[in-house]
Order: sequence, then C-alpha cells, then structure tokens
Amino acid sequence: MKLIVTGGAGFIGSCFVRMLIRETDHSVAVLDKLTYAGNLENLEPVSDNPRYTFHRADIADAEAVDQVFADVQPDAVVHFAAESHVDRSIFAPQDSINTNVKGTFTMLEAARKYKTARFVHVSTDEVYGSIDEPYDADENYPLKPSSPYSAAKASSDLLVLAYFTTYKLPVLVTRASNNYGPYHFPEKLIPLMISNALENKSLPVYGDGMQIRDWLYVEDHCRGIYSVLEKGTTGEVYNIGGNCSLPNIEVVKRILAATGKDESLIKYVQDRPGHDRRYALTNEKLTKATGWEPRMDFDSGLTATVQWYRENPGWVQRVKSGEYQKFYDLNYTSR
Ligand code: NAD
Ligand code: DAU
Repeated sequence: MKLIVTGGAGFIGSCFVRMLIRETDHSVAVLDKLTYAGNLENLEPVSDNPRYTFHRADIADAEAVDQVFADVQPDAVVHFAAESHVDRSIFAPQDSINTNVKGTFTMLEAARKYKTARFVHVSTDEVYGSIDEPYDADENYPLKPSSPYSAAKASSDLLVLAYFTTYKLPVLVTRASNNYGPYHFPEKLIPLMISNALENKSLPVYGDGMQIRDWLYVEDHCRGIYSVLEKGTTGEVYNIGGNCSLPNIEVVKRILAATGKDESLIKYVQDRPGHDRRYALTNEKLTKATGWEPRMDFDSGLTATVQWYRENPGWVQRVKSGEYQKFYDLNYTSR
C-alpha cells in the first residue's frame, strides 16, 4: 500500500512512519511543512529506506498538496499534521485555524479528487472538553472544546465526518489522549519537565497541578491508529486512551523521582486560561473492533522516555535553539 502521512516529521507522525517502515511493506510519503515542531532528525532512522520519501509542503496550500497526491497516487492518507500545542493556540490562534481547519479541508478535497481509499484523521480527546467525575467519554460524548486548538480540531473532525456523509469519502477519525515518549517536543508537560529537571531548572506547574490527563505511550497510539487504518469501519470515530489517569502534579513528582531530582524544583505558576480540569476516555469501541489495547504501563514508559532524553542531549539542544526560546520566554515569564 502507498500512504501519504501528513505531519510525519513531528512527534507522533514520525513514530508512525518509523513503525511502518520497520514493521510493514508499505511505502510512505511524508507530507510536512517542517514548522518549528517538524524535524527531519526524527526520520533519520528511515531516511535511506527506498520505501520512504519526503515532500515539503503546507497542507493549507491546495496546489502543493495536489502535486504530492499526483506524484504519490496514495491508497491511503493518515493525517497527523496540525498545530498541536494548546498554549501556542492561545497566543496565536490563527495558526491553529489555518492548519487544523483549512489544512484538513485541503487534504479532504485532494483525497476526494484522487479517490483515496482510506483517510484516517488523527484527532484528540480535547474535543470533548473537560469531563466531570465519574464519567469517561465514549465516541458519542458531546463535543465541547475549550481552547482555539481543540475547537479547531473539533471543527476538523466535523468536516471529515461531513465528507463521509456528503461525498462517501472513506474516512475514519481517531481521538487519542495525551501521548508521551521519545522525540516529544519539549514544550509539552512531560518532555519539558524531563529536560528542565535534567538541567536543574524549575518545573512550572500550572495552577494547583490537580488537572487530570490520561497518558498514552506514543507507540501504543501508533499501533492503535494502524489498527483503525486496517480494520476500522469507515465513517466511524475511535477513541484511543492509555487507561492511565493521573493528576499533573503526580506526573511531575514521578519525573523528579525518575531523574533523581528534588521536589524543591517544582514551581507553581499562573494557570492556563480556559484550562480543562479532566480528560477521560473509554477505549471499548476500538478494543472490540480491532483487539487493540495499550501495552505500556506508565512507569516503564516514563523510564524509557527519561532514558531517551538522557541519551539525546544534542537533539534537545537543537530543537531548543532559535524559535523555542522566544516561545518559552513568552509563555513562562508572563506567568
Ligand atoms: P507535533 O506538533 O509534534 O507535529 C506536528 C507536525 O505537523 C510537524 O511535523 C509539523 O511540521 C507538521 N505541520 C504543522 N503544520 C503543518 C502544515 N500547515 N502543513 C504541513 N505540515 C504541518 O504534533 P504531534 O504531537 O505529533 O501531534 C500529531 C497529531 O496528533 C495532531 O493532529 C494532534 O492534534 C494529534 N494528537 C496529539 C496528541 C499529543 O499528545 N501530542 C494527542 C492526541 C492527538
Ligand atoms: O489530550 C490530548 C492533547 O494532549 C493533544 O491533543 C495535544 O496536541 C497535546 O499537546 C496535549 O495537550 P495538553 O494541553 O493536555 O498537553 P500539555 O503537555 O501542554 O499539558 C498537559 C497538562 O500539563 C495540562 O493540564 C497543562 C499542564 N502543564 C503543561 C505545561 C506545558 C503544566 O502544568 N505546566 C507546563 O509547563
């Protein structure tokens, strides 16, 4: 099978591409703009493989996207590309709208024109908004996004599903919880806290740190997406959760323990505006349809992740150079 993978130079997309090249016979064409979050180093392990090609393009640029479809003639698309960071979407919402909404529209139009046989749209549990105890969201839970990021993702989910209803485009939507693992850009909670702890910098915890997230190891997420690509029913939505709900402060304390650092590094800072209190998902639909279940337990996944950051200080320093520092200063000095 020939696949286009958008956002394949990012955190999750690159894990998916490395997995496809390593474990399947598929050909993979990565379509990526290489924003601050896109990094060809993440694809270095597959760069010499004849089944891998890289196409630099903006998914919101219809002409450029058309050219990639014309060149690749894909059987399937797995669509990861997005502005993925909530804090950035609060500072600069237009990027989220342009990439997550208009970019997804452009991809759908190209898939329609080229009669792509399967279109997997990678989305997020954030579209459900904050979920009160004791409920867990299934796929029919109402959408109530809180941030420009999650509102843009919810919009794109609806657009994707509308292309199934209106044009019979064979789409599938996945909604996953918080990922963690190697190659994670150090603006997100876990890699930021690991890299700050390793550098003896303070660990900025938003608000009271009692917000709850469900943690999913990135390889488990990628296996889940692949099972949806292979076995999912078109027009359907599938949650992908890690069965691992933890308050942020507990995650931070486990990172301090795993890095051997003291809890005095914790610094409570001003909360994120519109901060969702709790995310929680049920995976039952995906497990029933495909047999998929998360395999990695959190402490083993965290140990492997800390180990990767210890072994790759060069990767961390390179992604932190330039534009990163500007965002870090904007986000944290104002808190
Ligand atoms: P990321 O920020 O690490 O990577 C995004 C990738 O998309 C980068 O390679 C970037 O260059 C590319 N990109 C951004 N704008 C583009 C554009 N206009 N055109 C082409 N390429 C563009 O993101 P991630 O954390 O790997 O997330 C991937 C997907 O998974 C996103 O759709 C996100 O909403 C979803 N998701 C993420 C998580 C998570 O915890 N990170 C959880 C659930 C769902
Ligand atoms: O739930 C899935 C989502 O998870 C994905 O759709 C997003 O793409 C991904 O970025 C992630 O969103 P979150 O906002 O949950 O992730 P983030 O790592 O930014 O924050 C996780 C929690 O930690 C959240 O409650 C905010 C808090 N936090 C975050 C940072 C960066 C802190 O307390 N301090 C921090 O410095």
